[in-house]
Amino acid sequence: MILEGEHIRLRPATRDDLAAYTRWYTDDEFRKYMGPPGDALDALQSPPSDQVQFSVELKDSRLIGFIFITDIRTAHRQCELGLVAIGERDCWDKGYGSEIVRLALSFCFRELNMHQVHVETAEFNERALRCYGAIFPHEQRHRQWVWEDGRFWDEIYFDVTEEEFAAGERPS
Ligand SMILES: CC(C)(COP(=O)(O)OP(=O)(O)OC[C@H]1O[C@@H](n2cnc3c(N)ncnc32)[C@H](O)[C@@H]1OP(=O)(O)O)[C@@H](O)C(=O)NCCC(=O)NCCS
Repeated sequence: MILEGEHIRLRPATRDDLAAYTRWYTDDEFRKYMGPPGDALDALQSPPSDQVQFSVELKDSRLIGFIFITDIRTAHRQCELGLVAIGERDCWDKGYGSEIVRLALSFCFRELNMHQVHVETAEFNERALRCYGAIFPHEQRHRQWVWEDGRFWDEIYFDVTEEEFAAGERPS
């Protein structure tokens, strides 16, 4: 399934995307935010049954990132935006991340029939905090969860329910 946004589209990820994903993970800052490359590269090559994997393209078909919907639990109607990434750095801070997340949430609620979706990020990822904080109405802090740069950092957990997303609720 292809999800069309205003500036970007989400299309199914394929093994042909592996070279680009691998290149993105050679960037130290990207890896700091994303964690070890195995999570995405292994999943792309052997897709787990509880995931839906999209690659992100600009409208001119340039591949710029990916979003993997993970831990899909149909009994509880919950899932995670487990891997959210714009790999091409010239595409950061242009609002694409917000568009990607909103398209993925719409897919989770309308197509996957989820009730609640969450996403997590470390407190040092200020760009992700701003992006998610403007979309998810609820957040909570898991203290001293991530080891990076010689210290522990908190992890911020964001969530939204189907009713809140449908109502377009924003953080208060
Ligand atoms: C996180 C990511 C998906 C966000 O996408 P994006 O397109 O860059 O973000 P957007 O442009 O939609 O929004 C970013 C917001 O953060 C703000 N921002 C950017 N850098 C910032 C900084 N250093 N400090 C505070 N805010 C910052 C921007 O101004 C923007 O806020 P605004 O909408 O209020 O103006 C993308 O940057 C990315 O993939 N980064 C690398 C990998 C990563 O961190 N993935 C997430 C792992 S949880």
